[in-house]
Amino acid sequence: MKIIKEIDKDILTLGACLIPTMGALHAGHIQLIKEGKKLKLPLIVSIFVNPIQFNDKDDFANYPKTIDKDIEILNNLQVDYLFIPDSEYIYPSNGFESIDSGELGRKYEGESRPGHFDGVLTVVNRLFELIEPKAVIFGKKDAQQLFLIKKLVLDKKYKIQIIECKTVRDSNGLALSSRNILLSKKGENIATSIKKLLNETKKNFLTSKDIENSLIEARDKLSTKNLKIDYLEILDYETFCKPTKISNSYIIVIAAYVEGIRLIDNLDFQLEETL
Ligand code: PAJ
Repeated sequence: MKIIKEIDKDILTLGACLIPTMGALHAGHIQLIKEGKKLKLPLIVSIFVNPIQFNDKDDFANYPKTIDKDIEILNNLQVDYLFIPDSEYIYPSNGFESIDSGELGRKYEGESRPGHFDGVLTVVNRLFELIEPKAVIFGKKDAQQLFLIKKLVLDKKYKIQIIECKTVRDSNGLALSSRNILLSKKGENIATSIKKLLNETKKNFLTSKDIENSLIEARDKLSTKNLKIDYLEILDYETFCKPTKISNSYIIVIAAYVEGIRLIDNLDFQLEETL
């Protein structure tokens, strides 16, 4: 594996598959890389803890960094390139394009983390400009991020294939996240109720077809647990908005705090799904 800090023309002409990350790699990232290897394209994994997508300075400072372990994982997976740029290379002082994530970028995740999705789209757009990948791989774990990136690719008319990877979970259903290592054992246990809640909400909704009641029931259930819900919504999967009519596919999105750590998860499903 070649570790690079800048992109040169040789790589640009390769038509690579890019997997953007912020490091602290876990089995979720590894799944993305395994998908990437199937494409038989040169594989570039980027690690860049993007300062402009953190609205909270402490969150940025505390973001886990395990670069030696990350390099070992990527070497073992025989990734072709690890791209670790400096901030100045991504955000040159002579200017770069800032992307506005629009109305949706200010809802749900974006409402609690102002500027977050502008930062995500800006860095992803810079990576696309620099690398000109043929394919990119993102996880469904960050569903709103994925939705907004798909919109960016459409808006900018990029010829980039987007591959979506399903959420990787631990044996208790907890969605893997770099932030999980900040939880105690007890916290991890509490966090497993997030997936259970998503499953129950889906079941209630499919039975009742009543969004408001399904959400009220779900919130009531959680009021006893050491888990603080930030948002919990049932959205139209096609628009990522509150449904204005009956849709075929839905997504339940949740953000919650456990031991002060912000965790997000989601579950998408079809209306016609059998229980
Ligand atoms: P990061 O949180 O490191 O995630 C990198 C990629 O891994 C994202 O596409 C994310 O959705 C995916 N991922 C994380 N946990 C996953 C899981 N449990 N199962 C499946 N996929 C998972 O997301 C970011 O970094 C940043 O916002 C980034 C896109 C790199 C821009 O800075």
